Amino acid sequence: MLEVSGHLRREVDNSYPILIRPGLLDEAPAMLAERFNGLGFALVSDSNVTGLYASPMVERLRGLGCRTTDVISFPAGEQSKNRRVKETIEDRMFEAGLGRDTVVVAVGGGVVGDLAGFVAASFARGVRLVQIPTSLLAMVDSSIGGKTGVDVPWGKNLVGAFHQPVIVLIDPRVLATLAEEQFISGMAEVVKHGVIRDHNLFSFIEDNLEQIKSGGENVIAELIASNCRIKAAVVAEDEREENLRQILNFGHTVGHAVEAASGYKWLHGQCVALGMSVEGDIACRMGLFKAGEAARLDQLLRRLGLPVELGSLQVPVGKLIELTCQDKKARGGRPKYALPCAIGQMATGRDGAYGLDVEDRVARQALVAKGALE
Ligand SMILES: NC(=O)c1ccc[n+]([C@@H]2O[C@H](COP(=O)([O-])OP(=O)(O)OC[C@H]3O[C@@H](n4cnc5c(N)ncnc54)[C@H](O)[C@@H]3O)[C@@H](O)[C@H]2O)c1
Ligand SMILES: [Zn+2]
Repeated sequence: MLEVSGHLRREVDNSYPILIRPGLLDEAPAMLAERFNGLGFALVSDSNVTGLYASPMVERLRGLGCRTTDVISFPAGEQSKNRRVKETIEDRMFEAGLGRDTVVVAVGGGVVGDLAGFVAASFARGVRLVQIPTSLLAMVDSSIGGKTGVDVPWGKNLVGAFHQPVIVLIDPRVLATLAEEQFISGMAEVVKHGVIRDHNLFSFIEDNLEQIKSGGENVIAELIASNCRIKAAVVAEDEREENLRQILNFGHTVGHAVEAASGYKWLHGQCVALGMSVEGDIACRMGLFKAGEAARLDQLLRRLGLPVELGSLQVPVGKLIELTCQDKKARGGRPKYALPCAIGQMATGRDGAYGLDVEDRVARQALVAKGALE
């Protein structure tokens, strides 16, 4: 046998700036034109965001003499996050004569970011990606961390790639046009970041809730910045989710099960809120988390108008348990839970792992307490 070893020593510095400023979108075309001088732009957006923010950017880029596609737009919503739409985006880029010297610019919510990011990861074996998130969820969560991908009939986000953006531009002013329920849904991830890593952030939300809900620009910019810091720090320590990154899944083991049980009618953040409430209770039942802390979490979620009870969603507890076992993060059919030990800190097992095993009996009790049918 002949053996040749393929030496590949890579030390890649994947760090990138995340800029946050009210009004930043006005400056974005000039910034992009200067930073990516000579490259071709492909702007990707959805049917809601194209007319609001992406088309004006294309006009401005053209005015600055840049080579750019028209906005490559697809129907808004999770149903578009699939392989067919990815192919359509790629076809439009080839038709425009784009090659390796391309910058893909994602202007939109998490759906746009995940799809355009996956296109950028694979087009011509990978091109530069700029994230311009326009939903709160995308600003505080999906635009940072480099996970990209699409849904397939077998599940959400099952085909994708890690591909970090070269820059993230966040203009909190665009939240003015975002539907309120979408904003509140994004707040669930903000609360999550407080619970998993930053007690001060959690208190900041408690103390400034009215201003946050009424769209106070400076408070929201500060909130987004703290969230980006947390997500970026966790991802920097564990990009490939070997251990620490699992803390970002707090609320998501139960949350994903609820999402599936609701037939994807509940928004992601609503499911995560309920998931955090159930998982907080599980942590109490396991003696990790204090009842008073769990109550504090529930109270904040309630004040935000997020669900902490299954309510009208009449689901048998057995169904929810079964769904948690099918979770993508499950190992050998056993779901892994990331559980808090205090507001601002997550628990680890004896081996230092953040992914914890929870007995079905305990998960059942916590789910029934939140209204799952016995
Ligand atoms: N890559 C990651 O790490 C990661 C993390 C979390 C979530 N996600 C993914 O993100 C997606 C959810 O993201 P989302 O909640 O942003 O959903 P979304 O992209 O569907 O946006 C929600 C809705 O708001 C609209 N919208 C967005 N910005 C707007 C604005 N400024 N004004 C008016 N309307 C606006 C969109 O058109 C859409 O109708 C899911 O597919 C999820 O899997 C990815
Ligand atoms: Zn989430």
